[in-house]
Amino acid sequence: MIKIGIIGVGTVGQSVANILEQNSDIIEARAGKKIIVKHGVVHNLSKKRDVNISLSDNPNDILDDPEIDIVLELMGGVEKPYEIVKKALSNGKSVVTANKALLAYHRYELQELAGDIPFMYEASTAGGIPIIGALRNGLSANHIESIMGIMNGTCNYMLTKMINEGALYDDILLESQELGYAEADPTFDVGGFDAAHKLLILSSIAYGIDAKPEDILIEGIQNITDTDVKFAKEFGYEIKLLGIAKKIGDGVELRVHSTLIPQESMIAKVDGVMNAITVVGDRVGETMYYGPGAGGDATASAVISDIIDIARGNQGPMLGYKKSLESGLKLLNKDEITSKYYIRLEVDDESGVLASISSLLGEFNISIESMLQKPSSNENKANVLFTTHTCKEKDIQNAINDLAKLNGVDENIAMIRIEK
Ligand code: HSE
Repeated sequence: MIKIGIIGVGTVGQSVANILEQNSDIIEARAGKKIIVKHGVVHNLSKKRDVNISLSDNPNDILDDPEIDIVLELMGGVEKPYEIVKKALSNGKSVVTANKALLAYHRYELQELAGDIPFMYEASTAGGIPIIGALRNGLSANHIESIMGIMNGTCNYMLTKMINEGALYDDILLESQELGYAEADPTFDVGGFDAAHKLLILSSIAYGIDAKPEDILIEGIQNITDTDVKFAKEFGYEIKLLGIAKKIGDGVELRVHSTLIPQESMIAKVDGVMNAITVVGDRVGETMYYGPGAGGDATASAVISDIIDIARGNQGPMLGYKKSLESGLKLLNKDEITSKYYIRLEVDDESGVLASISSLLGEFNISIESMLQKPSSNENKANVLFTTHTCKEKDIQNAINDLAKLNGVDENIAMIRIEK
């Protein structure tokens, strides 16, 4: 028999306890052992929880209990869970976590500390989709060329409703909080940080990259306007918040941002709280993983898969490398990222403005792929829209700075990166 202690019995913790009880037949058949929850720890004991387990508010009731084999860390946050997980590992207990923020900051220290003690985190990335298992096991024969996908259910839910139904940003954010998709602090979702945490975890398994959120390009969905949604649709694009990792020579680009992708691409068709990630391996080619990226039962399904794996005796280095690569891949500087870009400027509708825009772009070696003018809601102004050929992030940022200072150009310039 395996005994579990759950630290953090919120939406996911309650689902874990209930699924372990209600699906105990299949879980025991698959694990080869009975798995029971011995105890749960919560911050606020007076809040009603829908579980049949004993509860207290002291993590040491689990950490110091010699009968407990596996600690589930489902609290959220970074430093407090870090201390708790360190203590669990020091006491020789296996750990399962869904906490992407913890791993985004401390995965390498925790791997070191865990050594051969099982430490698993399938639920940390893309909720119910077994993407960690796919990268650690299923694709382990491959050099990974790229990982790209929708890694935040809240943003995808919001963008879908905004684009398809014209829903208002604040209303739809509130709705995703009520549905239990959003982080405790939803700026983690809409600001792109939650997706970045997940991308960092995946890039450690794929590339052995030890980077922190502040080392990579992170932008959210807050700047997406109705005007750009309208033009995106008109030009055959969807807007998605994507996490992107690409191997380029000896370097790896890591970035999270709103992205225009062609409506006919598979990721463009992924709506609502669903996540989808494509991984390209040098031998397997392109593979794609799709499923619910948030929600209690979906995330609990991934947590329990880790528990079953531990019960079966599966282990291995947490991030999947038995020995480090001699020539590790380097994280590329944000400025070195290359992309195609969509730019929208509101300009005075008079002669000479277009000429000054295109001459300025030329100075930064930015080549225009297509350009057109559309009416603005302001009758003396016009929207100038263009897409670029592939160019460097640094050049486009400098060009936008200078465009905003041109006579006749409004300083609020919209920019969205484009992926095929
Ligand atoms: N807030 C996250 C999301 C939950 O919306 O995807 C799952 O990590």
